[in-house]
Amino acid sequence: MIAYGYRLLLALSVLCLPAAMQAQDAGGQEYSREGADTCFACHDDQAMLAIFRTPHAVPSDPNSPFGHGQLQCEACHGPSGDHAGRVRRGQERPPNIAFGSESDTPIDVQNGMCMGCHSSDAGVSWHGNAHDTNEVACADCHTSHAEADPVMMTATQPAVCFDCHAEQRGQTLKPFGHPIRQGEMDCGSCHSTHGGTTESNLARMTLNDTCFQCHAEQRGPLLWEHAPVVEDCSNCHDPHGSNHPGMLTLRAPMLCQGCHSQIGHPSVANDATGLPSGAPSQLLLDRNCMSCHTQVHGSNHPSGSTLMR
Ligand code: HEC
Ligand code: HEC
Ligand code: HEC
Ligand code: HEC
Ligand code: HEC
Ligand code: HEC
Ligand code: HEC
Ligand code: HEC
Ligand code: HEC
Ligand code: HEC
Repeated sequence: MIAYGYRLLLALSVLCLPAAMQAQDAGGQEYSREGADTCFACHDDQAMLAIFRTPHAVPSDPNSPFGHGQLQCEACHGPSGDHAGRVRRGQERPPNIAFGSESDTPIDVQNGMCMGCHSSDAGVSWHGNAHDTNEVACADCHTSHAEADPVMMTATQPAVCFDCHAEQRGQTLKPFGHPIRQGEMDCGSCHSTHGGTTESNLARMTLNDTCFQCHAEQRGPLLWEHAPVVEDCSNCHDPHGSNHPGMLTLRAPMLCQGCHSQIGHPSVANDATGLPSGAPSQLLLDRNCMSCHTQVHGSNHPSGSTLMR
């Protein structure tokens, strides 16, 4: 029924198709004579028609592919007159613009079709970012013929990214992590998916600022700062998930001992000569550094210089 309604509507709009639609584009390819109605002769399955329930099919929006006077299917698939025409038995159907990394259409041509209308959405930061330079197509992330585009929704977005980012998929499956698997956060919580000015396309200017969006309590300035915290949260945390509680990159004391020598520390017992034995005391084996140095992120206590209060 819905499709039928649209056919009527399209039939009306065909009467006022722009001149270009009945003519040719610069490459000499012809547009089809009747827009979408031409295509429906062969492409009318439900999956295809779902596009009419998306923001791309708003007849009252003059910028939409199905807006008044627009090129409809061919706004994205390019002039397809030849493709939609008759072919002899055994003859190949002339191609038009098809989408995705598997398609024969060069990625820059595909993306150019989308950018024609969306340069301001994806524009400036898209150019030159890792996805652009590695020839990722808009259509690798975006699905245009589905009522709801999975990459636009938190619960379904990570699966789209995991198609290519298997390493991060593995990390999010580890026992301690952000609630990504639970559908409460997505990759876009920390990444600017169309690109950004930072390494790893982070959502904010620095890695720490990205974390402070949600973890404001770790934001300084504090009276006694812990240098690696101010520098970079990922010195100790793996944001995609970890096998250690607290999403730590290593368990304490190893985490801390990566930077701090234990020689001369109060938790190292002295040997018979009265010099440090070099072996950690029972105190350290049973507990860890944080049982004394509770304020690993820094302290505001006047005598908190050793991060113990
Ligand atoms: C006479 C039948 C016919 C008409 C009309 C027709 N197509 Fe097709 N189309 C096909 C067939 C058959 C295939 C699959 C075989 C192929 O890819 O060559 C196809 C494939 C496609 C593909 C996928 C191409 C790929 O390489 O994966 C797109 C996109 C497409 N058509 C768009 C359109 C558009 C847009 C129109 C209207 C302007 C249209 N078609 C009209 C028969 C038709
Ligand atoms: C003829 C112009 C035009 C073309 C070509 C076009 N779009 Fe759009 N697109 C629009 C309009 C208009 C909207 C609705 C308003 C908005 O969100 O900007 C839209 C919306 C969207 C949205 C938001 C959908 C949502 O659920 O909110 C996405 C994503 C999108 N387009 C991706 C694409 C991709 C990918 C391509 C290429 C395959 C493409 N567009 C080609 C005009 C176009
Ligand atoms: C790596 C995956 C990915 C690629 C590649 C990608 N997008 Fe997106 N796009 C997204 C996500 C995720 C959103 C949801 C909003 C967000 O997080 O920025 C989105 C949102 C959009 C929107 C809705 C408006 C907005 O900015 O929120 C448009 C339009 C759009 N993308 C167009 C494009 C175009 C055009 C291209 C190709 C040049 C493209 N996208 C490539 C992931 C991608
Ligand atoms: C907003 C851009 C856009 C518009 C408008 C659009 N398509 Fe598509 N089309 C795509 C993209 C992107 C894909 C790749 C699969 C996907 O994203 O759903 C695609 C895939 C296809 C395919 C291949 C499907 C397959 O399973 O391989 C056909 C056929 C097709 N479109 C026909 C049409 C027809 C017919 C219309 C008009 C009713 C149309 N398209 C309108 C962007 C568009
Ligand atoms: C079609 C494959 C593909 C998809 C889908 C994809 N990516 Fe990527 N992504 C790549 C490639 C290729 C690179 C560059 C090489 C690398 O770092 O692995 C990349 C790089 C990145 C980077 C590193 C950027 C940098 O500057 O170092 C981030 C972050 C990223 N992707 C996030 C995402 C997110 C988030 C999604 C889903 C919304 C996504 N990607 C979807 C292929 C993809
Ligand atoms: C809590 C914030 C956060 C979330 C959520 C997040 N990331 Fe990241 N991501 C980062 C940070 C920070 C980096 C910078 C490098 C690092 O410390 O791992 C990064 C780096 C990356 C890189 C580049 C890795 C490299 O070695 O260059 C990719 C690819 C990536 N993330 C993909 C994803 C994907 C896919 C998702 C969604 C499943 C996701 N990220 C969710 C924070 C996040
Ligand atoms: C979009 C919001 C958001 C952003 C951005 C964010 N987080 Fe989180 N973070 C959360 C949520 C939600 C939890 C889970 C809280 C809970 O389970 O009670 C969490 C938990 C944590 C935990 C505790 C894990 C545990 O097991 O107790 C750490 C550590 C953490 N985040 C570090 C980071 C780092 C580092 C960054 C920046 C790279 C970051 N977060 C960015 C929302 C965010
Ligand atoms: C020097 C190592 C180190 C650095 C750097 C670090 N953290 Fe932590 N973080 C820890 C330790 C240790 C824990 C405690 C884990 C536990 O309780 O098992 C922790 C716990 C957390 C928690 C869980 C809640 C809590 O307070 O116990 C959050 C959230 C968190 N860190 C966020 C951050 C953010 C945001 C940054 C960057 C500004 C950061 N961390 C930098 C070591 C560090
Ligand atoms: C990435 C390296 C790094 C890691 C990991 C690290 N620290 Fe630190 N820590 C530093 C630096 C650098 C300073 C500042 C030293 C200075 O000012 O002389 C510091 C200072 C301290 C101080 C205060 C020392 C003083 O003289 O005031 C304590 C206590 C401390 N760290 C404990 C810990 C604990 C506990 C852990 C594990 C949870 C840890 N650190 C992990 C680099 C690190
Ligand atoms: C039993 C409590 C306790 C434990 C456990 C402990 N510390 Fe300490 N730490 C102290 C005390 C007390 C001081 C202050 C010594 C001083 O002021 O002379 C201190 C001082 C420090 C300092 C400042 C520089 C120095 O050596 O005097 C660093 C760095 C430090 N500890 C790191 C660690 C690390 C790393 C661990 C885990 C391997 C750890 N501590 C475990 C009690 C502890």
